[in-house]
Amino acid sequence: MKKKLAIFASGAGSNAQKIIDHFKNSDIATVSLVVCNKPGAGVLAIADREGIEQLLISKEQYRTDGYARILSQKGIDFIILAGFLLKIPQALIEAYPGKIVNIHPALLPAYGGKGMYGAFVHQAVITNQEKQSGITIHYVDEHYDHGDVIFQATCTIEPGDDPETLAQKIHLLEHRHFPEVIEQVLRGK
Ligand code: GRF
Repeated sequence: MKKKLAIFASGAGSNAQKIIDHFKNSDIATVSLVVCNKPGAGVLAIADREGIEQLLISKEQYRTDGYARILSQKGIDFIILAGFLLKIPQALIEAYPGKIVNIHPALLPAYGGKGMYGAFVHQAVITNQEKQSGITIHYVDEHYDHGDVIFQATCTIEPGDDPETLAQKIHLLEHRHFPEVIEQVLRGK
């Protein structure tokens, strides 16, 4: 029986698109739900185009149980955070132990935590004159960007780089690695 994946995203959804594409011809999993907290987010247009069920969450309901009951009713086996900006409530973590992964656009444990997302991360890395940055794919626990690391990949930071050019390098790493790493985790599960 194919595993049913839910993608949680708040933004453009470029990672979501890559993950959806990757599992289109997969024998082990399929993306069956896109969960979003932002009406009009690009990821919802992707779900529309791909004919994937959407769940637009309300903060109040989300705070109670993170929609854990509804997700299990829908038969969701595994949760992927791909640019999702809300913290995962304890109830959802308990309902999906070791089955929620996140991607962070920096080399955790550095440059993580509340407020460290998108251009803020890239700006901090450049301001601190780091020589490299990268991505971290990790299990999710009750703290922001804190669970066990599954995979990291790096990219160099050149003198002319700004948050925009660094973001492009990071997105390339994300799109190349995230779908594959998810598949490896699912096969190991
Ligand atoms: C990615 O950079 C990811 O690392 C971070 O949020 C961003 C999502 O981008 N968690 P997109 O919406 O997948 O294009």
